[in-house]
Amino acid sequence: MINNKNTQINKLAVSILAADFSQLGNELRIAERAGAHYAHIDVMDGVFVPNISVGIPVLQSLRRHSNLVFDVHLMIQHPENYIAAFAEAGADIITFHLEAAKDPYSIINTIKLHGKKTGISINPATPIEALFEYLPMVDMALLMSVEPGFGGQHFKLEALTRANNLRKHINTNKLTVDIQMDGGITHANAADVVNAGVNILVTGTAVFGANDKTKAIKQLLALINGGNTQ
Ligand code: DX5
Ligand code: ZN
Repeated sequence: MINNKNTQINKLAVSILAADFSQLGNELRIAERAGAHYAHIDVMDGVFVPNISVGIPVLQSLRRHSNLVFDVHLMIQHPENYIAAFAEAGADIITFHLEAAKDPYSIINTIKLHGKKTGISINPATPIEALFEYLPMVDMALLMSVEPGFGGQHFKLEALTRANNLRKHINTNKLTVDIQMDGGITHANAADVVNAGVNILVTGTAVFGANDKTKAIKQLLALINGGNTQ
């Protein structure tokens, strides 16, 4: 049951990390037709997180095959060095990790100068208060609900309290910031995530690991919008 008072449509971002990498164009086509809003592209450098995923050339190729909003999640050290390249490769939203940022203000400005939406993310161990000073300048705050680095992990329940507190802060201060949550979101907990104040949900395994991906996406969309998928 959705109790969220948000009047806007809650959005679904499908994480390609769980997709068939030999069929990425097709996988995104399925997601787009099923009504997913964003393609969530996890970029990992093997340093900030203990895994390596995809980068600029993959994004560039996918851009020719999809009209989805490209939501790029940078799990990399020195994000400032790569903003221009990801912007030019076709990112629509660029999210960096606060833990990896020496000068968050300058990164935010660089993303904006490239005409892209700005996201700032924190790991489960980082207090949400660390985000507060940046919220007036960004479009989206991404709360990790697993340790970043791998798909298919278990959702950390504390993430719900963190989202709730962040939503309260955003509303009290009359800010317009989307709250995205990433990691371990499934059909079983998607409604709880929305009720905690999250309005953009990332799902990898729950979508691309399903036998019927279209059905999995449509069911998630119905769950997060109380049946209204417009
Ligand atoms: C984890 C990634 C997530 C992950 C989500 O580091 O940022 O986007 O792929 O996948 P699931 O839904 O499988 O947890
Ligand atoms: Zn991610």
